[in-house]
Amino acid sequence: MSTAFRPKTAPSKKGSGSKSFFKPRGIAFKGALFAGVLAGALTWGGGQYLMKVDSDGIAKESGMSLLAHAEVIAKEIGNPIDIGKPNQALDRLHKRLRAIPRTTAFILDAEGKALLPGAPEGDSKTLDSLREVSPGVLLGGLGHAKVLEIRQEVRGRLLPLGTLYLRQELPAPIWAGGIIPLAQWTSLISAVFTFLFLSFSMRGVGRLHRVLDRAGAGDFYERAPEVGCYEIRELVKKTHDVMQIVGAAQETAQRVYVETAIALSKTIEAKDRYTSGHSQRVTIYSVEIGESLNFDEDRLETLRLGALLHDIGKVAVPDDVLLKPASLTDDEFVIMKRHPMAGDRILSAIPGLRDMADIARSHHEKWDGTGYPLGVAGDSIPLEGRIVAIADAYDALITKRSYKPAMAIEKALNIIEADAGTHFDPQLASLFVTMKRSGQGYKPLPSSVPAKEPKKSKKL
Ligand SMILES: [Fe+2]
Repeated sequence: MSTAFRPKTAPSKKGSGSKSFFKPRGIAFKGALFAGVLAGALTWGGGQYLMKVDSDGIAKESGMSLLAHAEVIAKEIGNPIDIGKPNQALDRLHKRLRAIPRTTAFILDAEGKALLPGAPEGDSKTLDSLREVSPGVLLGGLGHAKVLEIRQEVRGRLLPLGTLYLRQELPAPIWAGGIIPLAQWTSLISAVFTFLFLSFSMRGVGRLHRVLDRAGAGDFYERAPEVGCYEIRELVKKTHDVMQIVGAAQETAQRVYVETAIALSKTIEAKDRYTSGHSQRVTIYSVEIGESLNFDEDRLETLRLGALLHDIGKVAVPDDVLLKPASLTDDEFVIMKRHPMAGDRILSAIPGLRDMADIARSHHEKWDGTGYPLGVAGDSIPLEGRIVAIADAYDALITKRSYKPAMAIEKALNIIEADAGTHFDPQLASLFVTMKRSGQGYKPLPSSVPAKEPKKSKKL
């Protein structure tokens, strides 16, 4: 009989896996946010720098234009000043200044008094790049303003008559107003592309997350697709390698555990020559029922192993009770009835054997709820437990024990039929009886099945 064991697939948590990768706090979201802010800041900063360069150019151009205006003004008003008619010069200056766009101008006399409106009071600053453009007229710069200083000849000396300031408003670069919208669009586009790029590059992470989740639940056979960027693909490959090693180690450990349990079960049966081979026969009958119910291969394997180990809990029963060559007393029967729960504890100690533990625990439950250890009834008893209950009782009836002779097959089938609906699941009992009466499945050796009436027993 095959005792091959394949670990069962563990359930995974809903909501985990690839969905978690797209959580707002995921790397794609963070990367997109960072890239967006960075791109926006760089665009805005770059725009500010270019605007300054552009503004400097405009200022230089404007200054040169202003300087040309001032030079013309200086030449035009030079003669009137020389001949002592400053008021005419001022009138001409007014007209001339109004003709220059975006320009403000003011003029101070030699004592610092404003001769044109809006002029600052007094000025002791030194003119930059001072040069004489005509007799009595000096031209230079003072900060952003172009300065014209007018002098008049008095007693053979040129004395300052007044100082003219010209200041021109600089126009902003045409594109300057578009910096903020440009930075916003750059941020948005960068964020979208970064999100798509990171999502595409790291798309293998979601499935890898699911694989690791399942590994945490004891399933080392889930695999993730090797997709995404190079680093992610390598990570997935390495994870698969590790899972292979861990899975193989787990399978070996489980197989050793199961084979140890089977060996222990056989040892218990071997103590009593009458029960030797009982578990193997129960397994055969159980699998026959499972196949009739169209169990798939995984479920048949669980049923096969559960039936083989259904009495493993008898390891906890003392030999004087287990091997007693007569019917048990009530106290001894209480001890014997502990073996289903003992089997449950033994088999549930290792992940992947939970279903087998359920079979060991429930194979003495009865359809009407009068069984043990829990006294559950009907469909509350695991189906595999109900199957093994029939197989266990049938083999116990038709084989010889130290406290009873073997029973004829037909007689045993009549008992199972009679107990359908009380001890046994009625549909399963009918299926099994029909199957055996039609000659299907395993048949014990004729010599072990005399046609003698059995005695009632408490050792099922
Ligand atoms: Fe049992």
